[in-house]
Amino acid sequence: MNLAQAQARLAEKGQSAVLRFWDQLDDPQRQALLAQVEDLDWASLPEMMSLLPARAAEPAGAFEPALVTQVAGSERLAAGMLGEAALRAGEVGVILVAGGQGTRLGFDGPKGTYPLDPVTHATLFEIHARKILLLQRSMGAGIPLYVMTSPENDAATRRFFDAQRYFGLDSADVLFFTQGMLPALTPEGQLVLESPGHLFLGPDGHGGLLAALDRHGLLDDMRRRELKTLFYFQVDNPMVEIADPVFVGMHLRNVADVSVKVCAKRDPDEGLGVVVRRNGRWGMVEYTELTEAQKNARRPDGSLVFQYGSVAIHLFTLEFLRQEARIGLPLHRAYKKVPCCDARGRTVKPAQPNAYKFERFIFDVLPDAREALVLEFDRADEFAPVKNAEGQDSPATARAAMQAKAERLKAVSLC
Ligand code: UD1
Repeated sequence: MNLAQAQARLAEKGQSAVLRFWDQLDDPQRQALLAQVEDLDWASLPEMMSLLPARAAEPAGAFEPALVTQVAGSERLAAGMLGEAALRAGEVGVILVAGGQGTRLGFDGPKGTYPLDPVTHATLFEIHARKILLLQRSMGAGIPLYVMTSPENDAATRRFFDAQRYFGLDSADVLFFTQGMLPALTPEGQLVLESPGHLFLGPDGHGGLLAALDRHGLLDDMRRRELKTLFYFQVDNPMVEIADPVFVGMHLRNVADVSVKVCAKRDPDEGLGVVVRRNGRWGMVEYTELTEAQKNARRPDGSLVFQYGSVAIHLFTLEFLRQEARIGLPLHRAYKKVPCCDARGRTVKPAQPNAYKFERFIFDVLPDAREALVLEFDRADEFAPVKNAEGQDSPATARAAMQAKAERLKAVSLC
């Protein structure tokens, strides 16, 4: 794209201010900015504009908590056998989303390279990869791993897996793919320049997964491998039971398009989304979108109305993912502190939120599901996320939970 083409595109979109520092840029900076203008996700801009406060979307409408399923006894055994059969037949693949920035943890580098294990200091990636290796061995079948990165951590993530020899996994069964990036908008709808020659861009959310899988030909790769079910999880939870056969079996028995694991919330304010029914359809309401009254609402027996939170452990049928990739997911906005240029072109880190960032969420496939399963599990066994540097949901609490689980398992095996 040359300057005249960029000027025309930007003028047409009402974004001519993107070139306001053009005269101060050297040649490489100019080329880089033209490339950004060319590659920008222009197709998403109208939707981003429609989410700005002055043009706010309709309120979401009333919703109620979705019914939660518990599984125990003989039903659990039967589900486990069904799940194992699918795993042994090589019908299950795994998707790991690891494209986030780990800002809250304050760790420099891909979050998956954080050394977490209290004893071996294994990283999050190693903890996950070893579980997959064990599962492959016990099932006697391949389980491909699809790892979503962002442009910011893709090279470092690939280098890390390479240097660690894929933790024993077959490198042909570990497939990396990069999610997309989206610009930020000021409340007036202007693209944000981070520096005179560079537009601010941020990852497009874990919902960017669908478009990214499609773009990289991986939905076809899944079909070629004859996968039917995809297990999805986040890099930040070291306790996740990857492709747990009972979960897989329950998903299959319920002929669900999507299944969601939930656990009882620690307290009303815990940062977990809740699965709901709205207008006869499934849905997820993010913790940031629940009002104080909704978070604290209680039933006559004292339990929370929105008692169960989603820990971002899901199962999808491949055909449903393919369908959703064709339909596309909606954007959500968040008002954030976005680095930007002042009038003289110096980069400023604002003290207060100044612009909207946009993300897609994978759980927005829920309203299209004909059947969904919401399965309860015990958080002590499967959920101890690493989100913050200290306090709740930190490396310290995750290590304590991992140790407690190891001790429980040891006690059981000694019985
Ligand atoms: C998330 C979920 C929340 C859930 C909680 C469980 C969202 C919006 N909310 O909250 O419903 O209850 O986890 O722990 O996700 N990621 C990407 N690309 C991105 C953004 C995120 O790959 O562009 C990945 C991250 O690497 C991470 C995961 O998604 O593995 C979660 O992202 P994060 O922003 O930390 O979500 P939470 O707000 O903690």
